[in-house]
Amino acid sequence: TEAVLLVGGKGTRLRPLTINTPKPMVPAAGVPFLAHQLARARAAGVEHVVLATSYLAEVFEPYFGDGSAHGLRLTYVHEEEPLGTGGAIRHAARALTAGPGDPVLVFNGDILTGLDIRALLERHERAQAHVTLHLTRVADPRAFGLVPTDADGRVLAFTEKPSRPEEIVTDQINAGGYVFRREVIDGIPADRPVSVERETFPQLLAERAVLHGVVDSSYWLDLGRPASFVQASADLVRGIVHSPAVPGEPGEFLVLPGAHVDAGARLSGGTVVGAGAHVAAGAEVAGSVVLDGARIEADARVHASMVGTGARVGPRTVLDGVVIGDHSLIGADNELRDGARIWCGTAIPDAAIRF
Ligand code: GTP
Ligand code: GTP
Repeated sequence: TEAVLLVGGKGTRLRPLTINTPKPMVPAAGVPFLAHQLARARAAGVEHVVLATSYLAEVFEPYFGDGSAHGLRLTYVHEEEPLGTGGAIRHAARALTAGPGDPVLVFNGDILTGLDIRALLERHERAQAHVTLHLTRVADPRAFGLVPTDADGRVLAFTEKPSRPEEIVTDQINAGGYVFRREVIDGIPADRPVSVERETFPQLLAERAVLHGVVDSSYWLDLGRPASFVQASADLVRGIVHSPAVPGEPGEFLVLPGAHVDAGARLSGGTVVGAGAHVAAGAEVAGSVVLDGARIEADARVHASMVGTGARVGPRTVLDGVVIGDHSLIGADNELRDGARIWCGTAIPDAAIRF
């Protein structure tokens, strides 16, 4: 089986984590997030993955190579100008070997899910569908693409990010994983930007193509925002969602080789401490991602936050739900909360920010 992974987005909602690193290469549970997706695809029997790159395209291949270390074959295709989700799928198809009627898996590069990929492929075959979509239910669907289906799973409509209350006719949303019949991909307009969500799916529906939705209730999280990215990493560390790529056994924390955690520090909630990072005595780090070479100084308290590569969090400083960009230096006795984002390379003096 073959798959296309969409990894070319700019990841604007995840800045500043995505200033130096494309979203799929930001580490979650100790490895680039993409490694979890590749491992899950491989476990489902996928043999060839085409990575559709655009933004910061050059960083993927040095890490993943030809894929053999990950048990599959990897091909890289690069869009000079970003072509959007649909354009990217069409552009990537040149690297596929699938025949016209064969199924091709397509995944957004920023979704963490426990979806049974084999079951999705089987449903696609059984429904004789042109496209089969993974759907999930969420409490508030407004920020997503709504996909109502009939009792047989046939897709009835697509409403991308509805603004009017009467448009909210279902809690089923597009979960960012698809099976395309190869010839459907070849029908997407080439060499101009196309959104699969806003253009391709509504058009296929208008043409009475068979679009089949599979509602799946396994773990699902969109990592597009910092809070959900940190959550995904913690859930991977704790084994709440399984990935064969996590470098360790499930537990309350994951300390990578070369990190130093003082005996008087406390790690919990699925925290990961990166290579060469330090956590000093009295520091408490819960449900957070501490990237390589970062320093958490004595008695600091870090909760549900992301501390960038080489950044420093000063003594007694409190972080709750914040992102510290790479190489930023946060002085002692600061207090940062509720979605604050500190850009890369910023210096904040001692006791400068309090609530
Ligand atoms: P935001 O800028 O924060 O919205 O993130 P994003 O750029 O990643 O956009 P979005 O979350 O809508 O993208 C969904 C998936 O499609 C992600 O995995 C992106 O990497 C990918 N993607 C989005 N646009 C493109 C594109 O033009 N080309 C390629 N190759 N992938 C894309
Ligand atoms: P010491 O406490 O230094 O003897 O470590 P350990 O033998 O318990 O090592 P372990 O592999 O359990 O932990 C790795 C590092 O994480 C150690 O340096 C611990 O001090 C540190 N650590 C931080 N918080 C915790 C915690 O809640 N439990 C445990 N066991 N270790 C923690």
